[in-house]
Amino acid sequence: MQYRTLGKNKKKVSVLGFGTMRLPTLGSESEINEPVALEMLRYAIDHGVNYIDSAYVYHGEKSESFVGKALAGGYRQKVYLATKMPVWLVQKKEDFDRIFNEQLARMQTDKIDFYLLHCLQKDSWPKMLELGALKWAEKMQSDGRIGEFGFSFHDNYDLFTRIVDGYDWSFCQIQYNLVNEDVQAGTRGLKYAAKKGLDVVIMEPLFGGTLANPPPAIREIWDRIGKDCMPVDAALRWLWDKPEINLVLSGMSSMEQTRQNVETASRPEGSWLSEQEREIIPLIQKTYRKLYPVPCTKCRYCMPCPSGVDIPLNFELYNNTAVFKGNAVKLCRILYTSLPASQKASACKKCGICEEKCPQQIPISKMLEDVNKQFAEAEGANA
Ligand SMILES: NC(=O)c1ccc[n+]([C@@H]2O[C@H](COP(=O)([O-])OP(=O)(O)OC[C@H]3O[C@@H](n4cnc5c(N)ncnc54)[C@H](OP(=O)(O)O)[C@@H]3O)[C@@H](O)[C@H]2O)c1
Repeated sequence: MQYRTLGKNKKKVSVLGFGTMRLPTLGSESEINEPVALEMLRYAIDHGVNYIDSAYVYHGEKSESFVGKALAGGYRQKVYLATKMPVWLVQKKEDFDRIFNEQLARMQTDKIDFYLLHCLQKDSWPKMLELGALKWAEKMQSDGRIGEFGFSFHDNYDLFTRIVDGYDWSFCQIQYNLVNEDVQAGTRGLKYAAKKGLDVVIMEPLFGGTLANPPPAIREIWDRIGKDCMPVDAALRWLWDKPEINLVLSGMSSMEQTRQNVETASRPEGSWLSEQEREIIPLIQKTYRKLYPVPCTKCRYCMPCPSGVDIPLNFELYNNTAVFKGNAVKLCRILYTSLPASQKASACKKCGICEEKCPQQIPISKMLEDVNKQFAEAEGANA
């Protein structure tokens, strides 16, 4: 495992962090497949991963408790634990202590090593300032209950720079991957943070898994490097090639993915990318930008929808029909028509609640109209 440092106290962290937002489940998002997830987490730790990232809301609020259980038996001492204050649930000052204490209990610990304000956006940042979040965190740090203090971010570059400059943070967490160079904080934000001496943790390094299963037009470009080229491996290495990045979180959902990503992060020191990869990646980026109509990462922050629409699934099927051909398109149509009526795009009542929660700022209601139009023909054929 390769290591870098993170935070003001320069803690030695593995370049790969374990994100616990995409653990294997038994069906519904809140039913974590605990035996498998536990094996994955401990495998990663046994092979050098020492940073675990969770949040109050992941897996229907079950992720933190799972992490607490999985780190029993001496594993807690081997890792740095990160979790986040769900800023949208904080209405008054007292909520900080209430939520934080609940998190400590769930995670069976008395200290969070890396604590973040979760998903700061244009409305929540001033709200946090007004409610005294920074003073509260300083008190927690002086009490030894928080180690390093930072924020995670999904808004635009200008707001990012304002937040970076607005406090003496230890670190930040941004969405960044090879197709998101110009999205949110983006490459400019990464360089800005580095210039200001702020350490950076990366989330959504595979764009929520999209980069793991490239459509034929992209696979064909990767194949120019060699038929055995693994896009996941290359996408992660593209990130570690950047010195401004301190740690990359991966949300692994199977043992196989855990083994593979641990192996990628454990390659011997040296260049992270070959010359051929450096040449080809700009073309991959350009082709991706052209292909996908909806920039959904399936993070499910938009859910639950009050009308029952499965928003990420609708967008996944829609994107796949735009990108793939032949049988894959037929399969998407069949999958869409077989969804319960309440889960389909056509059930959207345009209440807009999801749009307030979407970190990608996708105009969801409008895009669901497009999904509905796209699949209307298939619906008609099956009527
Ligand atoms: N603070 C925030 O606002 C925020 C937001 C998002 C994420 N995060 C944190 O950042 C972490 C990382 O983000 P992410 O989970 O979105 O990461 P990601 O790497 O972009 O997406 C994870 C998905 O990629 C696929 N994947 C991972 N490794 C693979 C491999 N070796 N082969 C094939 N597919 C692979 C899996 O998809 P399948 O499951 O489809 O196989 C997995 O669920 C999260 O887990 C969470 O801890 C924080």
